[in-house]
Amino acid sequence: MQIFLDTADFSAIEERYDSGLIAGVTTNPTLVANQGINYLELIKNIAETFPEMESISAEVNGNTAWEFIEDAAKFRDISEAVTIKLPMTKEGLKACKYFSDVGVKTNVTLCFSVAQAALAGIAGATYISPFVGRLNDNSFSGVELVRGIADLYCNQGIQTKVLAASLRDVHHVSRCFLYGAKVCTLPLKVFDKMYDHVLTREGLDIFDKDFKRMV
Ligand code: G3P
Repeated sequence: MQIFLDTADFSAIEERYDSGLIAGVTTNPTLVANQGINYLELIKNIAETFPEMESISAEVNGNTAWEFIEDAAKFRDISEAVTIKLPMTKEGLKACKYFSDVGVKTNVTLCFSVAQAALAGIAGATYISPFVGRLNDNSFSGVELVRGIADLYCNQGIQTKVLAASLRDVHHVSRCFLYGAKVCTLPLKVFDKMYDHVLTREGLDIFDKDFKRMV
């Protein structure tokens, strides 16, 4: 069970990394564009600053498998943690198979069905990213998709890890881990909220007062 941060905000990663709970980072074009930063520099910076990180997903641009492979070249020498993020398309899976054969980690993104996840598993993806929140936005259960994929991979002995993405709240995270996700990638505010419970806060207030009453 692992937690990744779903962000392109380098300082925010730095602030949370010393928790000892973060095993990786996922990024996407929207997150990077919103930060107004250079994608390659960001991935280099994360890899150099946090060498123990297991996986740093960097999304590639293109339409054909060859274009994805060419675009990925700029990321590949940075670190073994760099994980090439590919779309759940026919060409994306061709590129996935190529990377799998040469030992480069991959994350197949924008997965919305068990059938798509089956293809990614056969293509040798390191991670499959079902988008929980976006499926919910379209009136299907995202966490049930996670459960279906996790069951399929377990039953078939597929090594691809379920990386639950597009998680919008703490409840999503709990359900995804319970249903078999190996990794949850979390927006910063969801990660921060995982620590929190009103009864923990109330209990601490009582204990603080009682520490002061001690003789
Ligand atoms: O990792 C994918 C994630 O960033 C998408 O999240 O909230 O845009 O659906 P969201």
